[in-house]
Amino acid sequence: MKKFVALLIALVMMMACASALAEKVGVSMPTQDLQRWVQDGENMQKELEENGYEVILTYAANNVAQQIADLENMITNGCDVLVIASIDGSSLGEVLAKAKENNIMVVAYDRLLMDTPDVDFYATFDNYKVGVIQASYIVEKFDLENTDKTFRMEVFAGSPDDNNARFFYAGAMDILQKYIDEGKLVVPSGQTDFETCAILGWGTPDAQTRMDNLLTAFYSDGSFPDLVLSPNDSLAMGIANAVEAAGCPLESFPVITGQDCDKANMKNILAGKQSMSVFKDTRTLAAQVVEMVNEYLLGEEVTVNDTSTYNNNVKDVPSFLCDPVFADINNYEELLIESGYYTPEDLQ
Ligand code: BGC
Repeated sequence: MKKFVALLIALVMMMACASALAEKVGVSMPTQDLQRWVQDGENMQKELEENGYEVILTYAANNVAQQIADLENMITNGCDVLVIASIDGSSLGEVLAKAKENNIMVVAYDRLLMDTPDVDFYATFDNYKVGVIQASYIVEKFDLENTDKTFRMEVFAGSPDDNNARFFYAGAMDILQKYIDEGKLVVPSGQTDFETCAILGWGTPDAQTRMDNLLTAFYSDGSFPDLVLSPNDSLAMGIANAVEAAGCPLESFPVITGQDCDKANMKNILAGKQSMSVFKDTRTLAAQVVEMVNEYLLGEEVTVNDTSTYNNNVKDVPSFLCDPVFADINNYEELLIESGYYTPEDLQ
């Protein structure tokens, strides 16, 4: 009898393991155009598969209808969990409601899912802190606390349909506004509000066009701004392209900020065409999400470290915020090469 019970327990345990192995996770990424999302997708897939999950990974070519179709397919294909980096955070309400009806766990990945009750958790980097890091760099670089000089600045902001963009902007402007008020930073275009400075879709060509227009309209004497606040690398690339195309010599290149440490931008940093970036190690974020998924599926309490910052207009979404890190020419080797994120050849 004892033997039989032991056998039965072993059998039940094996079945439980098998079903855990069979859990399916859908990972919906916004686009393959930007290096960071490709890396996010690959890291998520690797981490999840190493943890025994089956993975459906899709990229939606920055097309909202495509992302909805991808998610519909994941639901039809029996996914137990959806991990979503949205294109437009407010556009997925219906498909998320369907996910909830099917008892699917929904994790907002990097970008918050807005205007819906049907998101369980949010995993991201501290987006406000990203802006703080960028602005603090500017403050130090120009010694704004102690100087009595005036520096000319232009401001760029991210895509208005991405909730993160307002956090990046707020983190930076909460610091820089004081120096604008004191007259240490002047903005020749006068364009500092989020809506005017925003680039819908985060596209490099659109940032380049706006920078071209600013240079033509407000720097027609052939001069250049001393600094340009850019929330991320795709915009920083467009800004640098415009400055270069307008004939700016390297030694007078504006200080341009960024975020993501994309390879092309790290090359620009090495070439003196961008000053800094913010490193958000996608391996850390992927590992965190996998931990959340594991905990949830095992019925354990899911680890979060923020329950009040990210309200999606329906509820405060329990969040885990990873730490973003400052990167520039002086620390990139340790941060990116020695940590195995890039090979030295990647940046040549
Ligand atoms: C991400 C940034 C990225 C931007 C453009 C934001 O939501 O947090 O890392 O640069 O989207 O893709």
